[in-house]
Amino acid sequence: MQPISPLSAAEQNPLSSLDVWEDDLLQRYPDPEAIAKGKTADEYRNYETPGRDTVSTFYRLNHTYQTYDFVQQKRADFLKFDKKEMSVWAAFDFLNQLVDDSDPDTDLDQFQHLLQTSEAIRADGHPDWMVLAGLFHDMGKVLCLFGEPQWAVVGDTFPVGCAWSDKIVYPEYFQYNPDKDDPRFQSKYGVYEPGCGLNNVCLSWGHDEYVYQMMKDYLPEPALYMLRYHSFYSQHREGAYDHLMDDHDREMFKWVKLFNPYDLYSKNPTPPDWMALRPYYEELVGKYLPATIRF
Ligand SMILES: [Fe+2]
Ligand SMILES: [Fe+2]
Repeated sequence: MQPISPLSAAEQNPLSSLDVWEDDLLQRYPDPEAIAKGKTADEYRNYETPGRDTVSTFYRLNHTYQTYDFVQQKRADFLKFDKKEMSVWAAFDFLNQLVDDSDPDTDLDQFQHLLQTSEAIRADGHPDWMVLAGLFHDMGKVLCLFGEPQWAVVGDTFPVGCAWSDKIVYPEYFQYNPDKDDPRFQSKYGVYEPGCGLNNVCLSWGHDEYVYQMMKDYLPEPALYMLRYHSFYSQHREGAYDHLMDDHDREMFKWVKLFNPYDLYSKNPTPPDWMALRPYYEELVGKYLPATIRF
């Protein structure tokens, strides 16, 4: 297989941590409740404004290299699920090897973000499978631990194989994507049919599709939509790809929209009391998931 790009590992990974992408999302989509209480997004999250330049570099890479063919290659490789097999709890330990070395004081580890998301969902009385979706939604970030660059793991996702919407963040960087010269991919519908349904549409490759495919036999469909489309901001926040969706997608996206604030706005510097919560989550995981998960 061709090397994905001639860049060094450092050049491929401009963000000091994956959280920088999420912090930038919070700037773009501030918490309406926090604003109503007179807080700015910065105060709510209590972080130093991350360098817009690293976020911009990250998106330049993402928009340059996420081509239609790249997505097919990654699907063919990772959806074999032949990399690792672990219990759920070993998988969370594995995910937590993704350490944020830039800002250890303010950033919680990956598991704490997942637990805060799931606990916020549980506190609002949503179904237990939505709590489980909260707990798992970023498990796909283990892709980084398999050597994948940041731009192939996180970032807003978007359809490949058709025209890019200018509602996608940093649309100007698509000028560097080789798909712009392929006439198959540059019409509004590209390789797709109008209203064909998102199940027939390939999105840029990353942690969303990977965790969806990992979980698709175990969770109810609304939970699977939350996993699969939680970073598809140009649709769930901007409505830019309605022309590819079918009525079933539109129904299911109500769940994606319900989920998104729990992902973005549940971050809190105080970690949940895992020892107290553990029995509940062990039972929940046992109810829906097999003893081991394949990666
Ligand atoms: Fe995510
Ligand atoms: Fe998340």
